[in-house]
Amino acid sequence: MTFHITLVRAMEILDSRSRPTLSVTVGLPGGFSAHAAVPSGASTGSQEAVELRDNDPTRYHGAGVRRAIGHVNGEIADALRGRDFADQADLDRTLTTLDGTPNASRLGANALVGVSVATARAAAAQAGTPLWQYLSTDDAPPLLPVPHFNIVNGGAHAPNPLEFQEFMVAPLGARTVAEALRAGSEIYTCLRHRLTVCGHSTALGDEGGFAPDVTEPEYALRLLVRAITDAGYPTGPHGVAIALDPAANAFRQSEGVYRVNGQTLTSSDMIARYRQMIDDFPIWSIEDGLAEDDRTGWAELTRTLGSRIQLIGDDIFVTNPTLIAQAVDDHIANAALIKPNQIGTVTETLRAITVCQRAGYAAMISHRSGETDDTFIADLAVGSGCGQIKSGAPARGERVAKYNRLLEIEYRHTELPYGLGR
Ligand code: PGA
Ligand code: ZN
Repeated sequence: MTFHITLVRAMEILDSRSRPTLSVTVGLPGGFSAHAAVPSGASTGSQEAVELRDNDPTRYHGAGVRRAIGHVNGEIADALRGRDFADQADLDRTLTTLDGTPNASRLGANALVGVSVATARAAAAQAGTPLWQYLSTDDAPPLLPVPHFNIVNGGAHAPNPLEFQEFMVAPLGARTVAEALRAGSEIYTCLRHRLTVCGHSTALGDEGGFAPDVTEPEYALRLLVRAITDAGYPTGPHGVAIALDPAANAFRQSEGVYRVNGQTLTSSDMIARYRQMIDDFPIWSIEDGLAEDDRTGWAELTRTLGSRIQLIGDDIFVTNPTLIAQAVDDHIANAALIKPNQIGTVTETLRAITVCQRAGYAAMISHRSGETDDTFIADLAVGSGCGQIKSGAPARGERVAKYNRLLEIEYRHTELPYGLGR
């Protein structure tokens, strides 16, 4: 699918945390132009591609992105404008070669991913293809993914004392996105009511989930089960299951040592705690149960629980195909979280998914805690056929935009199946 680029332009906009980010426009002949807005994480892995910030304390407390915008409007536009590209991979190779560093640190991953995603959208439009179809590969058929709604927030995403970052509900038993969304919304509403009845705050965290003043993860799990039941859904693999992202980097004390709810725990203690949680609650997936530098712990976690539940690597893999391939060799985790801005381009993101699919690892597409109304990840989840997405609560515009895009795809393409695909 060849295309010719006529326009590349970026401007500074705000994300959902009131921090600056990029909106990139790419134009192709025939009036085909498309935008992409770039998300931003708060609990980041140390090996993520570099998000370029201005560090100019006189603007936005240093968080401005004028340097990245300068790179898009200058060097990148100069290199792309007036050129033909054989396909998305050709465009993305041009971007990474121009940057010249292994982690996009010269031009900024925020600059590269904005250009890459806007181009994908414009090229799909020009070809008359839905974006999800443009993103599909030979490794898995397109599939409407199971949404994972993050309804209790803690960790780096909320000011409450809860160390675990994300408590998600996943309607595994739903038959369509529409059914899954309804379940997520009804459970969210029941949880709000339950929190009020129990005298907890219904303040929200960065991803739209509630951020009650609780500390014990098991207490939050009890609230979740209660909300699922109150909403009238069965719990478990045929109803609504629970997925956790403790994001253990944030409560790691030192290598292999963690601090949860006032207790100091070793990696083995953490694994025993997770085992108990899996026994007591309908948990089907745990992401970043241990910190990125705790590879021994991760291997033990995988040996101990890997046959019972999904174990996702986020901060430890950072959507990097090489790191995922290494983890497959080392028997670490059995799934990877996929965030395009962690790696920098659409092609590298698709490669990370392909590495997972060929190794028998699952992949879950993810938003960032700092988001915009951009819905690219919904199309990516459908096109890649990975069967799973997380985009925060079933509330707040920037979260719901992705879920609503899934609904739209489902409505227009009734032939697409829904589910985990496994
Ligand atoms: P982040 O959080 O976007 O703040 O990194 C999401 C996650 O940890 O999965
Ligand atoms: Zn995570």
